Parts: sequence; structure tokens; C-alpha cells
Amino acid sequence: MIRIDYSQIQSFIPAGGVKALEPEVKNAIAALEKGSGAGNDFIGWMNLASGMDKALLDSIEDTAGIIRENCEVVVVAGIGGSYLGARAVIEALSNSFSQCIKDDRNPQILFAGHNISEDYLFELTEYLKGKKFGIINISKSGTTTETALAFRLLKKQCEQQLGKETARKVIVAITDAKRGAARVCADKEGYRSFIIPDNVGGRFSVLTPVGLLPIAIAGFDIRQLVKGAADMELRTGSDVPVDENPAAIYASARNALYRSGKKIEILANFQPKLHYLSEWWKQLYGESEGKDNKGIFPASVDFSTDLHSMGQWIQEGERTIFETVISVDQVQHSVLVPFDEENLDGLNFLAGKHVDEVNKMAELGTQLAHVDGGVPNIRITVPQLNEYWIGQLIYMFEKGCGISGYVLGVNPFNQPGVEAYKKNMFALLGKPGYEEESKKILSRIKG
Ligand code: PA5
Repeated sequence: MIRIDYSQIQSFIPAGGVKALEPEVKNAIAALEKGSGAGNDFIGWMNLASGMDKALLDSIEDTAGIIRENCEVVVVAGIGGSYLGARAVIEALSNSFSQCIKDDRNPQILFAGHNISEDYLFELTEYLKGKKFGIINISKSGTTTETALAFRLLKKQCEQQLGKETARKVIVAITDAKRGAARVCADKEGYRSFIIPDNVGGRFSVLTPVGLLPIAIAGFDIRQLVKGAADMELRTGSDVPVDENPAAIYASARNALYRSGKKIEILANFQPKLHYLSEWWKQLYGESEGKDNKGIFPASVDFSTDLHSMGQWIQEGERTIFETVISVDQVQHSVLVPFDEENLDGLNFLAGKHVDEVNKMAELGTQLAHVDGGVPNIRITVPQLNEYWIGQLIYMFEKGCGISGYVLGVNPFNQPGVEAYKKNMFALLGKPGYEEESKKILSRIKG
């Protein structure tokens, strides 16, 4: 079971602080389940796993099979919710030294469309020269500049290298059913395509084809991922007592801390494979909660790496933070510390121990030190890093986010703030339709 231990926050919140939130948390769960809360037209993610259409899974696996057969490299083009879920799962499950390849039988998965760096795109297109590569173009709106720009370049290169006919076979679009340039292009070119449901927002879309297709192409078992999420759906339902519901416990603990002045949550892991899971989590919570001048700021660290950099700040900096640690019970491989006759490094006290035992003691030592230093600690224990448990973790965080957003009093399912930079960028670039904005912004810059 995924377990949540919040015993190490008790001395930082008023007595009964978590329990006191129970009525609000229950209301939030009821609002989610009844669809009566803010943003209720975007809660389709809640039942994606339990309501998964078997024909859709078959079709995703068939398409993944075609791509795997025909491509040595696959570029997933997308940004934000159209990219981070797939990357989080693929990296959590992949071998650390094969750049997102599970083993030699699987295509290499690369990512694009999540930045506008000319050097990144140059180096990517150089790397792809002479390679049999495919593209998964993911955009719900179908008009996101970062993704569209990368896709334009990659599509041209793919057609030049493979010919238009073969390119058609290895380019897949995942987008809206009717709207947006990505849909127009897919229909006109005759690409295979999948639909992102209207009622699922980008950051909640990892259990749609947005996440499932790239994950299946990478060679992982999407049925187990979905099963894990469906089981967590049951564990977090409104019929489950709040103190047995991991999403509710997590949402309660973090809101109790927020109300006690802890404004920053640092998600920490002791497994570098979880780096992108933290990136996905940051988007999920940051974009969902940071509005109306409210919200916990989500940050992340990879330990023990960052104990040698950010560790100082966490131990002794401003006391407005709390830490949520993802702890993995069982690692996949076994490495023992060898005995050394000379013991020049003085490490013989560790000889015969598993490296993970050392890591676990670093984890416990860190928890104790940070709590002593004034940093409350929530610990989320995951039995193992496999498809099933990652599926559970994803759903737990999504449900926790929905509950938490409602308890905070915001609409967790919109993101009005992300439009501001786009408007300025389009005006500065002279996009048709932005003439008025362009005049305003140019006079502001000059004046
Ligand atoms: O969660 C969100 O809604 C956003 O992060 C989007 O996923 C992101 O902006 C990408 O949008 P789109 O899929 O329309 O290209």
C-alpha cells in the first residue's frame, strides 16, 4: 500500500489541526464526486482509470506497436500537461543510463516542444539526421507555439528523411476532436490520431493517450498503470473514511501546514529516477493552486544530491517550508558495499550492507535533522517503482490536488495566469490579431 505518515508535522500545527480540517476535506471530496465545485467541467480525470475503454487501450497498444516496429527514436512533442506525465512515468521506470530506453528492444524516447531554444532544436535535428524517427505531436489546444514550432521542424525533417508516405505512418497526433491546428493537420495529412477528452485538463491527462501512448511506445505496461490508478480511485472514494484516504490525508496535512505559515512545499526523493515525477507534481500543484494570490509554492529536490547544495537552505533558511518525501520501499537491484583489505577510505563499517540501506539511513537522518531544524515532514512510502504503484501515486496526487484546491478555495482546474506571457510574446512577434497589443507593448518598452 502507498502509506502517508504525517506524524512529523504535529508539532508545527495547532493541536488537532489536521482533524479540524475534516469537514472541509469531506465537502471538497463531495464537491468533486458530485461535480458541484468550481471548474466542474474539467473533472473527467477522476474516472479515467475505472472507466477506461478497453478498445482505446487496444488501439493505443496497436499504434505503439507500429511505431516501435518502424522507429529507432521517437520524439514526443508537447509542453506542460502534454509532456510531463509521460516523461515522469518513462523516466521513473527506465534504466538510468540508457536515456529513456528500457532495453535494446525499445525505441529511444526524446522530448521536444517544451522550450523555444534554437540550440536545443538544432542539436535535436542534428541527432535525428539519418535516423528512423517518429513523432507524437501532443497538444490539447493544438495551437501551443512551443510545440507547433518544434513539430513544424520535425515533420519536415521526417518527411525529407523517410518520404511523405512513411512519415505518415510514424507521425501520430494527440489533440482535440475538432479544434486547433494540430487536428486540422492530422486530418489533412491522414495521421493516426487520438482525442484528448474535453473534460480533462492538460496536467490531469497522463491517463489519456497523452501519457499512455508514449509510455506504451517506451515498452511499459499501460494496463498495470491504469489498474494502479483505478485501485487508488477506490481507496480515495467518498465512502472511505477521511483518515484512511491517502489523498485526503495528504491534502489535509499540507493545508494544515499552509494555514500555519508554511508556504513552500518541497517534494524530495532519494531516487534520481523520480526527478521528472517531481516536475510533473510541480506543474500539477503549481498550476492548480497558484491563483487569487494564494497557494503553496511547489518546489523539488533530488536527495542526497541536493543535500550538498539546497540542504543548507532547508536546514537553516527561512522557516516557511515543509518537506514531502517520496520514499521507495524496495529497490529493483542489489549492490553490496565490498570489503576492502586496506580500508583506505574508512568505509569498511559499511562492508556487506546494501547501498539502499545506506540510502535509507541518509533518508531517516535527513528527516530527523530537518524536523529538528524546524521543517515539518510528510512521508509518502511507495512499495516499488513499477507501473502499478506509479499509477497509484499519480492518481493519489491528482485527487489530493483536487481536494487541496477546493480546501484552499480556488478553482484547481483552470490556469488563467498562463495567458499573460503569451499575449506579450505574440504582440512582440507581430502575430496577426495582436496589432493593438503590439502598439501598447512597443510604446511601453521604448517609453
Ligand atoms: O495543464 C495545462 O492545461 C497546461 O499545462 C497545458 O497542458 C499546456 O499549456 C499545453 O497545452 P496544449 O496541450 O494545449 O498544447
